[in-house]
Amino acid sequence: MSIRVAFLAAECEPWAKTGGLADVVDALARALGEIGGADLELPVDVFLPRYRTVTVPPDRVTGEHTIEVADPASGISAGRATGRRAATTVRIIDVVADGYRLRLVDHPASFDRAGGYYGDEAGRDYPDNAGRFGLFCRAALAALDAEGRPPDVLHIHDWHAAPAVRYRDAAAGVGGPAILLTVHNLAYHGWTPRARVRELGPEWTSVLAPDADGIDLLGEAIERVDLVNTVSPGFAVEALTPAFGMGLDPALRSRGDLFFGIVNGLDTGLWDPATDPVIAAPYSRADRSGKAACRADLLTRVGLDPTDAGPVLGMIGRLDPQKGFDLLAEAAPTLLDDGFRLVVQGSGPTELVGGLRALAAARPAGVVLIERFDRDMARRIYAGVDGFLMPSRFEPCGTGQMISLRYGTPPIVHATGGLRDTVRDEHDSPGAGTGFVFRHPTADGLRWACGEFARRFRARGGTWESLLERGMAVDFDWRTGSAPAYIEAYRRAISLRRAIGARTTTNPAGAAVTRRAGAGSS
Ligand code: GLC
Repeated sequence: MSIRVAFLAAECEPWAKTGGLADVVDALARALGEIGGADLELPVDVFLPRYRTVTVPPDRVTGEHTIEVADPASGISAGRATGRRAATTVRIIDVVADGYRLRLVDHPASFDRAGGYYGDEAGRDYPDNAGRFGLFCRAALAALDAEGRPPDVLHIHDWHAAPAVRYRDAAAGVGGPAILLTVHNLAYHGWTPRARVRELGPEWTSVLAPDADGIDLLGEAIERVDLVNTVSPGFAVEALTPAFGMGLDPALRSRGDLFFGIVNGLDTGLWDPATDPVIAAPYSRADRSGKAACRADLLTRVGLDPTDAGPVLGMIGRLDPQKGFDLLAEAAPTLLDDGFRLVVQGSGPTELVGGLRALAAARPAGVVLIERFDRDMARRIYAGVDGFLMPSRFEPCGTGQMISLRYGTPPIVHATGGLRDTVRDEHDSPGAGTGFVFRHPTADGLRWACGEFARRFRARGGTWESLLERGMAVDFDWRTGSAPAYIEAYRRAISLRRAIGARTTTNPAGAAVTRRAGAGSS
């Protein structure tokens, strides 16, 4: 049987990106297209909101049509028995993407906004986020429904696509597509206060318990979806504990072995120092000589002394408390005194980098802070620094450590989630490691690992070279392990769905929502 799969996601590189979610959605869809010929109906569909910044290349548009869906803004009357919701028009624009079909959900009132994808310029969440992403899900389901061949599997990503589960249940009962939910970030739940639930429509107002404060969209989807995974086996274990479960550990535990981890891959075509068009000189595992030119080029560009041979560490990420920029800021003065220099790129709300900004101003020869998302500069950093920092407090998978390994830049990471799964500590396994791993997410832990790194970096020689070589040899290619694991998960989700169909004759959409506020952040 050939499976028809449609993704629903709020980000997809290169169209819309704030973090790793975008890279994964794009790379997985492409990898499925490359390996899935015998198993999947191709191309894979990827539904994405058309934000203001998404420019549609006219020569790649293959189709465009409009559909009518319930208007979230008219939700006021939805709770009444007689209430009819006004319809609103959504345009679906089909675009040939690199290896899959991008399907833009164009609804200007929801997505054509001056701020970011999720909040305004000041970083405040849009109050109507549930309505916006509810409409996105509704439109994707309606577009698929209108087509001759409905999908067998909806692969939904994070809370933004979570409303799709109840819409499916209400519309199709057991006959609808199987749904696999991938949780990339457990910290964002799509918490929707009671007063806003009506924007999600009668499918949700009808099940809201009288005493519920609102709805935790991610939590709801975890409980109701056919199958749920997160993006590494290590984080799948951590997420079951109160320390990492962000209030959703009970929901995850309740799913038993229907919740599991599949480690993310890396698009090894996009991330290859031998063919990277941006970096100063190409290099490979067999011939790493070009890396020195990349280092000199990066340091010159950012205004650091390229002739200083001391260790330069890089860090790139969303400015989110998760990522540990504050740990670096705390550790940085001592690191500078020890001869380290730092090149940091952070994008997003900027209050988190106050410490680093002050340090960059006070010690410009030692710290460079790039406060924007700059794809080309990110590539130069991966290639040009000597070590790459990921002091994340938690990390479902992480992408930077895989890229830096491939670029011959040993990662220095906190032992958490996917970081622990993908980086082997040279201190614990001398001669077999690929990077440096610290156990405590503190400035001391970070400094300790940087010290371990520097000792080997300064000694250079064979030990150092073979560390780099082992890192560059790790095979993170999506096509090797991770994309096939998703195809397996699709099959499993389909058979679970069929089993429910065989057992149930009535629509199982009923169960009331009794969630309380405070389970997690937005
Ligand atoms: C989120 C997680 C990150 C993961 C990415 C892609 O950004 O925080 O760990 O790598 O999603 O799955």
